[in-house]
Amino acid sequence: MVRLSTPLLAALSLVADKVHGALDVNLDDPESIKKAAALVAEDLLTFYHGDEPGMVPGILPGPPPDGDYYWWQGGAMWGTLLDYRHHTGDKQFDDTISEAMLFQVGPNADFMPPNWTASMGNDDQAFWALSAMLATEVGYTDPPEDQPQWLSLAQAVFNEQTHEDRRVPSGNCEWGLRWQVYPSNNGYNYINTIANACYFNIGARLARYTANSTYADLATKTWDLVEKLGYISDKWDVYDGAHLPDCTDINKAQFSYNAAMLLQGAAFLYNYTEGEQIWKDRIDNLVDRTLEIFFPGDIAFEPSCEPGNCNADMESFKGYTARWLGTTMQLAPYTRDKIYPVLKTSAQAAVKQCTGGDNGRFCGFHWTTGTFDGEIGAGQQMNVLGALISLLSPDVAAPLTNSTGGTSVGNVNAGSDEPLVPTFAPITGGDKAGAGIITALLVAGSLSAFAWMSID
Ligand SMILES: *[C@@H]1O[C@H](CO)[C@@H](O)[C@H](O)[C@H]1NC(C)=O
Ligand SMILES: *[C@@H]1O[C@H](CO)[C@@H](O)[C@H](O)[C@H]1NC(C)=O
Ligand SMILES: *[C@@H]1O[C@H](CO)[C@@H](O)[C@H](O)[C@H]1NC(C)=O
Ligand SMILES: *[C@@H]1O[C@H](CO)[C@@H](O)[C@H](O)[C@H]1NC(C)=O
Repeated sequence: MVRLSTPLLAALSLVADKVHGALDVNLDDPESIKKAAALVAEDLLTFYHGDEPGMVPGILPGPPPDGDYYWWQGGAMWGTLLDYRHHTGDKQFDDTISEAMLFQVGPNADFMPPNWTASMGNDDQAFWALSAMLATEVGYTDPPEDQPQWLSLAQAVFNEQTHEDRRVPSGNCEWGLRWQVYPSNNGYNYINTIANACYFNIGARLARYTANSTYADLATKTWDLVEKLGYISDKWDVYDGAHLPDCTDINKAQFSYNAAMLLQGAAFLYNYTEGEQIWKDRIDNLVDRTLEIFFPGDIAFEPSCEPGNCNADMESFKGYTARWLGTTMQLAPYTRDKIYPVLKTSAQAAVKQCTGGDNGRFCGFHWTTGTFDGEIGAGQQMNVLGALISLLSPDVAAPLTNSTGGTSVGNVNAGSDEPLVPTFAPITGGDKAGAGIITALLVAGSLSAFAWMSID
């Protein structure tokens, strides 16, 4: 471990703060941004205990009530730290990142570890795959040969989610990717934007990385469905999803990560197609509307929950949105003039939130308010980290491809073809007790990850 222990860090920061005050940053100076980002990243890692003896690598404390975080957010955090590494060159977390991601791949090397399958959503699984894809694109250190490789992990998840048993077989929502993987879970009949947008995004990236057009075709088919169902409105609002049988009861809540996931995927396809007009139009419309809806006064805001209460999931969306706008500036460089000034104003507001905690440096959530709000967490740290590093995006290397230096080894057939029967962590005791525990797990699972979206 290179990372300092929490008490030592806190003690050091207390001393430093006497001199420097809270998070100081000059957003016109890349070195200053990197220094501030390093402090925010260190504080982020204080929420992670998976590298301590007896703890499970990869995950943040949870799920509720055991801690604030669902499994997916661990996956999202490793992606955030990979982006941090790529934008700053700081490799101090490499051992932690690799150990964490490889620990959660599961027996089929597809991010379906038995501990978590009971509550597995396609979006949960995809967030880990997105981090593996990012590892591929930033040229992150490849795992040892006897371990699953980053690219093949992303392909495994994409292949499994292409499979018909994850999808709606017929009717108006035909080909829709279900929110939940297993029929036993509440939400199996919810065809939501994020699950489909994640699949679209991974497909767009696999297409560009491998130059295999099959991925682009599947991604495009998914975009077309999401658009047809009206999840993207005429005004380019992006809604949350709708239920079977016909996906017409649209839940019009808008969360920034839905729009940003589609936008980033569109930017990959725009770049992959060498600037096709149809993807340019989609980028332009999504950028305009995203900045309008989620950056009032040019400061990031979650309109569907921030006026009330955002949960720990929602409290992490601003960071992804900033980073994916960052990627958009790389893959469609003409968008920089529109996006960059907004991200800068937003980041300036974000760092003003970073005056909390024992070291006077932890960040709050409500960036538009201008003062620390006391609401700290892993999501809040990821948000500010995303806000800071996205300002560096135009000047760092764009995502690699197989022909521009990427080294990760793929496998087009990765993933499991087995029928979808949940596998659980070994249960000790008699059959009856076992069955009872499985029922309890399934019930608990139905309330699990991304639970707020379920309006069943
Ligand atoms: C699954 O849970 C057990 C018991 O808590 C733990 O020992 C193991 O490391 C976990 N595995 C994963 C992949 O989370
Ligand atoms: C392209 O990807 C598809 C979908 O995974 C796969 O079936 C096909 O074999 C790939 N083609 C090549 C040439 O790798
Ligand atoms: C694709 O991305 C690269 C890397 O940033 C960039 O140089 C190129 O101009 C992009 N292509 C288009 C069509 O914008
Ligand atoms: C690109 O991918 C192909 C097929 O997967 C592989 O044979 C080739 O070696 C890769 N090229 C590079 C430069 O890695």
